[in-house]
Amino acid sequence: MESMRALGYDPEVAVADVIDNSITAEARTIEVRADISESPAYFWILDDGRGMTLEQMVDALTLGEVSSVDARDAEDLGRFGLGLKTASFSQARSLTVVSRTSKGTACLQWDLDDALQSGEWEVSRLDDATTRTLPGFDELDQLTTGTLVLWRKLDRLLQDARVPTQRMAQLSQEIRRHLSLTFHRFLDGPKSSRLTLVINGTPVDAVDPFMRANPATQSTTPERVPVHGSSVEIIGHVLPHASKYSAQEAGREDLNAGLFENQGFYFYRNRRLISHGGWAQLARRSDSLKFSRVQVDLPNSLDDLWHLDIKKEHLKPPQELRPALERFLRNGQTKSARIIAYRGRKKISDDIQYVWNYVEDRGNFRYEPNLDHPLLEDALLRLDPQGQKVLRKAVDDLAAFLPFADIHKRMSVDSKRPQPEEDLHNMAARACRLVDVMDLSFDDKQRIHDVLGSVEPFLGRRDLDSIIDMAQQHYKETE
Ligand SMILES: Nc1ncnc2c1ncn2[C@@H]1O[C@H](COP(=O)(O)OP(=O)(O)OP(=O)(O)O)[C@@H](O)[C@H]1O
Ligand SMILES: [Mg+2]
Repeated sequence: MESMRALGYDPEVAVADVIDNSITAEARTIEVRADISESPAYFWILDDGRGMTLEQMVDALTLGEVSSVDARDAEDLGRFGLGLKTASFSQARSLTVVSRTSKGTACLQWDLDDALQSGEWEVSRLDDATTRTLPGFDELDQLTTGTLVLWRKLDRLLQDARVPTQRMAQLSQEIRRHLSLTFHRFLDGPKSSRLTLVINGTPVDAVDPFMRANPATQSTTPERVPVHGSSVEIIGHVLPHASKYSAQEAGREDLNAGLFENQGFYFYRNRRLISHGGWAQLARRSDSLKFSRVQVDLPNSLDDLWHLDIKKEHLKPPQELRPALERFLRNGQTKSARIIAYRGRKKISDDIQYVWNYVEDRGNFRYEPNLDHPLLEDALLRLDPQGQKVLRKAVDDLAAFLPFADIHKRMSVDSKRPQPEEDLHNMAARACRLVDVMDLSFDDKQRIHDVLGSVEPFLGRRDLDSIIDMAQQHYKETE
């Protein structure tokens, strides 16, 4: 047991491991409370989950009673049958668990000093009167079912603290930060199953690394990749430029100084974040990727393949998944680089910029010129606010009077076709204008290729390379 204390849990990781159990027990509210001014100092985690009977608690305190080879419920956040013990003893020398089910309340305590003294591998059962005096018991007593995990003799938690109260304040901040990210999908999940997490009386807010509430974030549709009979879901996100942050987002470390560090894959196991940041040995972090974050969701049935560690801090993607991860990485790079190219003036709501947008409207449809298309946007930006208003209005009118009936008649009745596609020369002239408007440089033709490849009228043109070459000539001539 003493040896296992050296697994190297950071306090926030240890707390998350205990909270995993609460979530698996279907808790809706979890409260964390620490008091070190109290003597003796304590740290507890209380949940309103389904609780454990005495027999179940005995199993819960047995190392590996449910092990990593046993089949688990699909929602189970556990794997090794160790977390409760290893996480608790990594921080404290005394672990007490009080749990309540409809069958009653029971309490077991495991104290390393007692075990050392007696030489017995035993937990003690506390009587009701003693249980009632425990820190956190009053709070548990309010619940019909639930579990209290109480740590005392906090030797490791407060290790090396010159001023314990300061250390505790700093610790609770770190714990809050870690939990707000690790469990963000539970904290901002659907209302009916949303988790409330409270640390020392203050609720923990979810921190969404993908800024999904921000309309300027670009997210791909989820892709399911089959791996060994299960499936892994991947979604690419490209964060908006800082000029599009809300006031709250503007204060977030991971979106400012931490933007570079936090690019990369975000691996979730059953919606619980395991690891994030970096590109899992597929690429180095880079400036051109700093807006890109890729969400990877794996089920707990694939643990073996992912080399999940006991602390649930690390995992390694299996070989099979690498091609898909690489694809998302490259795709994200193109888009992320574009955010930099646009210097934040550009709102990119979609991957592809059409000249006309198709808009569904209460069973009918219409086409609207896309004001986010780089050419129109450039025109808008060159005007003063009054001029912008006039242009928007004119564009609106043009759209409203698009002669659908006439187009339809000519195409279907008269079998006429619109003018064939433009020739290379005209396309090159347009490309040249776009390169200029979008601050791209002919020194980086790959970038131009990637950017133009997602903008109409260049979208899907097989001769895009020739167009770009000709545009470059054109550019040189006009320079
Ligand atoms: N708060 C809780 N509410 C209900 N049951 C719990 C709670 N905490 C632990 N248990 C029970 O105790 C068992 C052991 O927990 P422990 O965290 O040690 O292992 P695990 O969750 O099975 O696996 P892992 O080592 O991956 O965490 C759990 O499987 C669960 O049945
Ligand atoms: Mg566990």
